[in-house]
Amino acid sequence: MSDDSKPGLRSQQWFGGKGPKGFVHRSWVRSRGVPGDHFDGRPVIGICNTWSELTPCNSHFRELAQHVREGILEAGGVPMEFPVTSPGETLTRPTAMLLRNLCSMDVEETLRANPIDGVVLMMGCDKTTPALLMGAASVNLPAIGVSAGPMLNGSWRGKPFGIRDAWHLGDDVRGGRATLADVEEAESCINRSHGVCNVMGTASTMAAIVEALGLSLPNNATIPAVDARRKVLARLTGRRIVEMVREGQTMDRVLTRQAFENAVRVNAAIGGSTNAVIHLTAVARRMEVPLDITDWDELARDIPTLLNIQPSGSYLMQDFHEAGGLPVIIRDLCEAGLLHGDAITATGKSLAENNAAARCLNPDVIWSVARPFKSHSGIAVLKGNLCPQGAVIKPSAADPRLLRHRGPAVVFADQEDLLTRVDDPALEITADSVMVLKNCGPRGFPGMPELGMMPIPAKLLAAGVKDIVRISDARMSGTSFGAVVLHVSPEAAAGGALAVVRDGDMIELDVAARRLDLLIPAAELEQRLADWHAPAPKAGRGYVKLYVDTVNQAHDGCDLDFLVGMTGSEVPANQH
Ligand code: FES
Ligand code: MG
Repeated sequence: MSDDSKPGLRSQQWFGGKGPKGFVHRSWVRSRGVPGDHFDGRPVIGICNTWSELTPCNSHFRELAQHVREGILEAGGVPMEFPVTSPGETLTRPTAMLLRNLCSMDVEETLRANPIDGVVLMMGCDKTTPALLMGAASVNLPAIGVSAGPMLNGSWRGKPFGIRDAWHLGDDVRGGRATLADVEEAESCINRSHGVCNVMGTASTMAAIVEALGLSLPNNATIPAVDARRKVLARLTGRRIVEMVREGQTMDRVLTRQAFENAVRVNAAIGGSTNAVIHLTAVARRMEVPLDITDWDELARDIPTLLNIQPSGSYLMQDFHEAGGLPVIIRDLCEAGLLHGDAITATGKSLAENNAAARCLNPDVIWSVARPFKSHSGIAVLKGNLCPQGAVIKPSAADPRLLRHRGPAVVFADQEDLLTRVDDPALEITADSVMVLKNCGPRGFPGMPELGMMPIPAKLLAAGVKDIVRISDARMSGTSFGAVVLHVSPEAAAGGALAVVRDGDMIELDVAARRLDLLIPAAELEQRLADWHAPAPKAGRGYVKLYVDTVNQAHDGCDLDFLVGMTGSEVPANQH
């Protein structure tokens, strides 16, 4: 602490000084029209905002932040809103995943560098949630989330229309069953408001995880983006973070091993996105809480799917909220002894207390542990000579007949090769083949695109094939489905066995046994790997070079290796 400051809150090291340094800090903030009593030792609360017109899902955050601000003021705090880079899923190229870690660095360094005592994290579109959690975790101030909330239900020609339906429409066009005019009409009927995708994709999965971790007020995951109740939630969150600072409730008090276990289990019960495996692992690594890829399988094996929502079911996010929202699922799992109900949350109360009053209002949307929507759920973690560090599959989204399958590989060297040949009538492929896509991992693409749900070749589609085994080092969208094996680790570009799979090699998938194997002799695999040469690096400078040089593999959360862990919130030296 500098000699020009007084003890107490962190922000007082800027604003509490009686000498010239305190003068500088206060007088420049006064330029915004702030009264002098804002510097009297009240908690200064950052509002970390991912608003951007380049991230349509978060485009209501300027207004929503005003409601957070009102709550902070009501509770006697001082709001300080600031922007961070906003990796939007739909527009960012090559991938928003590539920028997730950049955003996390922005969050971390901005928090530590400034007079902030606690922070409200405004996050919505897929990567904005893990990025803000990761950055904030490495600083470990009191933190609480406000999510974007889902957009209104899509509706087209009198029927609900979600992103899964849009994927099907794409297949219908390629199969000659729908026209481009149909597509144009559907385009303006699917996203009827701001907010995140209206299915249980990655964004809503991550919002549910925030709520399950206890890092938000109840109902944060599901209140629609445009619903007045989200404004109230934002305001109450603003009030609560001020209390959290007064109580010294830093992030590590909430993000315990128990909280992560709860999140993994809730993810299974909601049929959450496979992307959650990577993101939550990265957050846990920042928080220095052990969480292994196999935990996803072991912790969630006895959790049934309770939620009938796309892509695993048929309803949309608005229906989920109107049926009672995530609190219903949390209460049910707590009562069945499947969660750590005593985990302390951002409210200061336990997870069980927060959700004790939840009631299910539509049992066709939210089923129960006693009467589950699907008896199996979650994410299976595979091991084998093709993925010694792991790979994942979402069995509930796959054709059950393919969960045990042996077939010959049809190999695509990269995305371009896939797009060039997949619809070629001369492609030698049958419904029993195993499609293999290489060089789409974190380092290889770079940025691990959502290409794992490879398109089914046109000639198989025409023959009525709806699912086929697909294997890659890519991710897939939380809205995708199929017998799709993802996150193969190590990736091809890092010299994983995936790099040396050849056309015609037999591959065996056995989800019940949690195995994925390339059926060639061990000596031959070894020889092929010895003969393999790493591809030329994809970038020679800039952030992308930093990313490619330092990114961890999928099973480790794809963080940059030097960002793992926390530094804390100690105030850096003063420049003045
Ligand atoms: Fe932003 Fe789906 S694209 S939430
Ligand atoms: Mg997505």
